Amino acid sequence: MSDEKIPLAGVIGSPVAHSKSPQLHRHWLQVNGVAGHYIPMDVNTDDLSLVMQVLPKMGFVGINVTVPHKETILEFADLVTDRATLIGAANTIIFRRDGKVHADNTDGYGFVQNLRAGAPDWDPKIGPAAVLGAGGAARAVIAALLDEGVPEIMISNRTRVRAEGLQADFGKRLRVVDWVQAGNMLEDARTVVNTTSLGMLGKPPLRVPLDGLRKDAVVTDLVYAPLKTRLLEVAEAKGCTTVDGLGMLIHQAVPAFERWFGVRPEVDSATRAAVLR
Ligand code: ATR
Repeated sequence: MSDEKIPLAGVIGSPVAHSKSPQLHRHWLQVNGVAGHYIPMDVNTDDLSLVMQVLPKMGFVGINVTVPHKETILEFADLVTDRATLIGAANTIIFRRDGKVHADNTDGYGFVQNLRAGAPDWDPKIGPAAVLGAGGAARAVIAALLDEGVPEIMISNRTRVRAEGLQADFGKRLRVVDWVQAGNMLEDARTVVNTTSLGMLGKPPLRVPLDGLRKDAVVTDLVYAPLKTRLLEVAEAKGCTTVDGLGMLIHQAVPAFERWFGVRPEVDSATRAAVLR
């Protein structure tokens, strides 16, 4: 018998039952022949400190972090990557062999990789982007778009002050547009991103007027249930290039799986099927 420990990983959040990450990582564990496990764990904020001390002692090599812990988790990290610091949140934790806790945010990476895979001709530098929403997901998207060289980002959110907060943090390339004017900003946008929860199953629909969408725009929705949201449906009918949000979930997980288990996993149709199962 080998004394190699079986590596464990998982996702902490509350609630966590809806998370697709277990299906995704279990698929990759299986196809890569890795003898590890991936476990969903419902953790209260009050227990976070204790959990972060105990998990590495139990054989955990890392965890994903979801709502409501993505910001708080930074307090428990010894090392925080620049992008996690900039976004103010982490989605990936690595328990290093030397005992140090490393926090990273791969949401922006996942967002960009998904666009590159789904819209190979996407050129972020070609013109302004329009971002709907100003929550945690928007922060990661905006940081990634700026990194990719987008010349301007128009941002619109129901609660305007949140969009202004992002402008204060990310600077001059951001322009805040009133929520009632959100449809107008689409007329100039070459990249369009919905980061709100509107259009998700069980949530209200996205009511922003979409007539202004340009047919040369690349349009993506972070909502992936349903896979084809009304935004994507309308955009497709207009001739835009559309990219669904499932790929972002998959691509953000690639660097985590690689760091934890030492194998870079493939993103293919079987991966999508595993997540949709
Ligand atoms: P996430 O981390 O997924 O971004 P969040 O921080 O709760 O989650 O942000 C949710 C986003 O969806 C916000 O932009 C929110 O707008 P507000 O800042 O005004 O709350 C947006 N959103 C959620 N429900 C909405 C609704 N009914 N109408 C308009 N925007 C909504």
